[in-house]
Amino acid sequence: MRLNTKRFISAILVSSFFIYSIVIYTTGTAIDKGVKWRNESSKKGKLIFQRKNCIACHQIYGLGGFMGPDLTNVVSAEGKGPAYIRIFLQNGSERMPNFHLSATEVDDLIAFLVYTDKTGVSPVKRFTINYDGTVNWKGNDEKGN
Ligand code: HEC
Repeated sequence: MRLNTKRFISAILVSSFFIYSIVIYTTGTAIDKGVKWRNESSKKGKLIFQRKNCIACHQIYGLGGFMGPDLTNVVSAEGKGPAYIRIFLQNGSERMPNFHLSATEVDDLIAFLVYTDKTGVSPVKRFTINYDGTVNWKGNDEKGN
C-alpha cells in the first residue's frame, strides 16, 4: 500500500473516532427529562421519602426493599394514581405503617412520585431486545410525554 493511501485511511479512522466520541458524549445527555417535575414540592417529597425511610420497604427505579411494591411508576399505573396513593399515605395498611403525614407532606410525596414516574421505568419490562443486541424502549412516550 502506498504511503499516501495509508495516511488517507488513518486520517479517516482518526476523524471517525473523534466524530463518534462527540456524538456519544453529547447525544441524550443534553436533555434533562425530569427538569419540569423537579419543583419545590417534589424536592421536599424526596426528603420526606428519605426521612421516613420508605426505601426500606419499597423500591425506586428497581432499588430498595422488597416488602412493598416498586413505587417508580405507581402514579401512572393502571387503576392506581394520586388518589390511590393518598389513601395509603394517610392511613397506611395492614402491612404498611401510618406515618401520620400532614396534607402538604402527602402532596409533596405525590409530587416526588410524579417525578420518579417521569424519569424512570421499573421494572423494565417494556424493553424489547432486537436481533443485534440493541433495545427498543416503548417508554414514557406511550403515556403522552
Ligand atoms: C414497613 C414497610 C413499609 C414502609 C416503611 C412504607 N411502606 Fe408503603 N407499603 C408497604 C406495603 C407492604 C405495601 C403494600 C400494601 C399492602 O399490602 O398493604 C405498601 C404500599 C404502598 C403504596 C401503594 C403501592 C401500590 O402499588 O399499590 C404506596 C404508594 C406506598 N406504600 C407509599 C409509601 C411511602 C411514600 C412510604 C414512606 C413515607 C412508605 N410507603 C413506607 C410497606 C411499607
